[in-house]
Parts: sequence; C-alpha cells; structure tokens
Amino acid sequence: MEEIREAPRALREWERVSAHSHIKGLGLEGLKAKPVAAGMVGQTEAREVAGVVVDMVRKGKFAGRAILLAGPPGTGKTALAIAVAKELGRDVPFVPIAASEIYSTEIKKTEFLTQALRKAIGTRIHEMRRIYEGKVDELSIQQEPHPYNPYTKVPVGGTIKLSTTDASQKLKMDQSFAISLMKQGVETGDIVQIDVDSGRVAKAGKSREAAEKEKVDLTTVQIAEVPNDPVLKHKEFVYTLTLNDLDVAQSRAGVSMFGLLFGGSERKEISSETRAGVDGTIREWVERGKAEILPGVVFIDECSMLDIETFSFLGRAMEQELAPIIIFATNRGVTMVRGTDLKEPHGMPLDLLDRLLIIRTSPYARNEILEILKIRAKAEKISLTDDALDYLADIGAQTSLRYAVQLLAPASEIAGAKKSKCVTKGHIERARRLFVDVSRSVKHLKEFEEKMLK
Ligand SMILES: Nc1ncnc2c1ncn2[C@@H]1O[C@H](COP(=O)(O)OP(=O)(O)O)[C@@H](O)[C@H]1O
Ligand SMILES: [Mg+2]
Repeated sequence: MEEIREAPRALREWERVSAHSHIKGLGLEGLKAKPVAAGMVGQTEAREVAGVVVDMVRKGKFAGRAILLAGPPGTGKTALAIAVAKELGRDVPFVPIAASEIYSTEIKKTEFLTQALRKAIGTRIHEMRRIYEGKVDELSIQQEPHPYNPYTKVPVGGTIKLSTTDASQKLKMDQSFAISLMKQGVETGDIVQIDVDSGRVAKAGKSREAAEKEKVDLTTVQIAEVPNDPVLKHKEFVYTLTLNDLDVAQSRAGVSMFGLLFGGSERKEISSETRAGVDGTIREWVERGKAEILPGVVFIDECSMLDIETFSFLGRAMEQELAPIIIFATNRGVTMVRGTDLKEPHGMPLDLLDRLLIIRTSPYARNEILEILKIRAKAEKISLTDDALDYLADIGAQTSLRYAVQLLAPASEIAGAKKSKCVTKGHIERARRLFVDVSRSVKHLKEFEEKMLK
C-alpha cells in the first residue's frame, strides 16, 4: 500500500458527512414518501419533489437546470442533498462545499469550482487486479485524536478479517484504508473487495446471512454472495474514482513535499492539458467498456454568499455535456447579490433563479424530531431510556433539531462517566445545563447588557 496519503482531504470530507451517516436515500415508494424510511423522517413534500428530480435526472431531462433548497437551519437541507446522491446509485459522488470556502482558498475561484465539479463526476473502472475479497468477519478500527485538531477523533488504522467459503485471512489497515471503510459504512457481515496495491475498498453488499440476522431494510441494502477461493486473488476489481482524482494523479509529478504534508496538493492549479488528457483517456475507456461515468452532486451551502461571477460560471457549467447536479441551499430570503447592487430572492441573479427548481423545507413537528433522534442515537450507538428520548424531543421542539441532536454526544459522555450503560433524562438535563442553546445564550447577554447600562 502507498506510504504517503492525502489525509487532510479525506478527513475533511469525513467530518462533513458523518452527521448524516443515517441517511440512505429519500425513502420513497414510487413517488410517494413513506413517513419513516431509508433514515429519512417527515419532510415528505420536499422528499417527493426531490424524487421527481431524481427521476428527471435518470431520464436525462434535467440538463441545464439546478436545485435550490430553501429553508431554516436544521430542516434537513444537507440531509436531502445527500439522499438525492444516494438515490442516484452506488458510488455516486457527493461533494459538499460552503460558499465561503470559494473565497478562502489560495487558488482562483474558477479553479476551486472546476475541482469541485470534477470531484462530483465519478468514473467506475473495471480492471484485472490483485485483490483481497471476502465477507467481513471482524472489524476493529482504531480511533485517535485528529492530527490538526486533537479534540476530535478520527480513524487511524485497524484490522479486518475477511473470509470466503474456503478460507479466511486477517489484514492490517492504514489510515486512509480505515477512513475509506468507515466512509462506505463497511460493517461486519458485508462483502468487500480491497485492491492490494492501492488499498482501495469496494463494498459489494451485505451477506444474506447478516441481512437476515440484522433484519435490514431490503429496499436500501444490496445483498451479495460470499465469494469462494482464497481471500487473495487475481480478479476483476470494480472501483470508482472521480475525474479530480484522475487529474491529481496525472499531475502528481509536480506535487511538492509541502503539499503532501499540509494538504496543499489539492489546491494546486491543474493545467487544462492535464484535464484534457484525463478526459481523453476516460472517453476511450468508456468506448472500450472499461469505465462508466457516474455524474454526482455538488452541494453548495450558504449560496446567498456567492458572487455574480461565480453564479455565471456555474450557470455555464450546468449546460456542459458532462455536468454534475448542482444543489444550492440557503436560509436567506431577499438579499443583495454579491458583486452587484441588486437585491434579489436568495441573493441569486434572476437568470439563474429562472432555471432552478426550488424545494422548500420546513421545521419539524415534535414526533418527527423524536423519530430523527431515535435514528441518530442508533447511528451514534447511544442507548437512551424512553424518558430521555421524550425529554430530548421536547428540547428539540422548543429549541432546534440540531441542538437536540448535538446534546446526544455530551449526554452520552456524562452517562459514561457515571458508569451508566443508558443515557437517562438526568444525563440530558445535565448536558443541557452545561451547554446552552442560542436563545438562552442571547438572553444571558441581554441581561448582562441591561445590568451594564444601569
Ligand atoms: N428528514 C430528516 N430525516 C432524518 N434526519 C434528518 C432529517 N432532516 C434532518 N436530519 C438530520 O438532522 C440534522 C440537521 O439537519 P441538516 O440536514 O444539517 O439541516 P440543514 O442543512 O437544513 O441545516 C442532521 O444530522 C441531519 O442528518
Ligand atoms: Mg446544512
């Protein structure tokens, strides 16, 4: 396996999507949203509209258009965008960016955007490789503090035991391998393939036995057969790389040591010849049946902060033959379009607004918040008493879903410190006293100001 890897980039993406690891799709039946399905709860109208969009995309009828998700914070805009990518199929890339990032990098805005768009186009490649293949019997992932932020934990390595119908083998894994496994949500009972030379992981699905044992939702889980022969073999390996991965690999020769250590390599500008070269290769592979193209999703959060140049660049990008789906999200109403002196809805130029399909998201009812909390607790492997769950749902209804979700982790720490296996209402009360929500912090400062004025 490679010795040096670009951990920072993998880490950043890991942090962004882990809060939504429970989202497996839109949870639709036909075009109708089931109240709770595929990790999704409520927000049925928005999910149904998103389902129509997915249908249009599949039929090639969405070209030249984009989606705008408009709704208050914590109403599932990011969750919906991820669900759209999941609905489009396995290995379809999802690239989240915040509008403010475009201005904070040292590369040109257009280069940053081009990289984001090319990260959102996957190519599924079929190749004969040396691979490890089997059912995951044991999986132990070691977590350690983040190298640049010691207060968050990230996977650093671990071991995995694979078995076939004929043999089994235990393997050691390095960090990017561990991240790759966690990102794909690999668990015991899954069938995986691992490329020996690159450490790339491809998940084929869940074994029938594990699916039956865990009573998984068969509409969202792929079943795969346990392979035979030894674990290590020569076989067709199917893996997905993005156009940007290929661009970076092509231009590797010029990557400096600084880039490798500090993640600067992805910020390097990539020449248009390099990109043309990659496009040419992929076109040839597609023609030979060695690769398929998987257009994915670029999710641009806080889009009211984009400026007029960026909007026009994206408007042009949407019309390209090979374009990912762009999903914008905002919680702003009418506001200034950056770089102009015009006020427009959501701070977006009218010609772009015209081409958007707008999906509204609204705040959740208490019972929906309760359902989401249940799912999140399960994803974070936290067990709650019924009382605790009820209390947390009340908090969510009074403050915000996000605040309630965020109390799960500290409450679980408090329970752990008290050697309790379950999080109780008491532990949540304690977490709530320790961590105030926005309305309480504002009230606190107001009281303080009033005292100062006297
Ligand atoms: N309808 C939903 N079903 C399940 N989980 C949801 C739903 N809406 C939001 N969540 C979860 O609640 C949290 C906050 O939602 P998020 O998507 O970040 O909201 P927004 O992007 O609108 O601010 C996330 O962990 C998200 O996955
Ligand atoms: Mg969001």
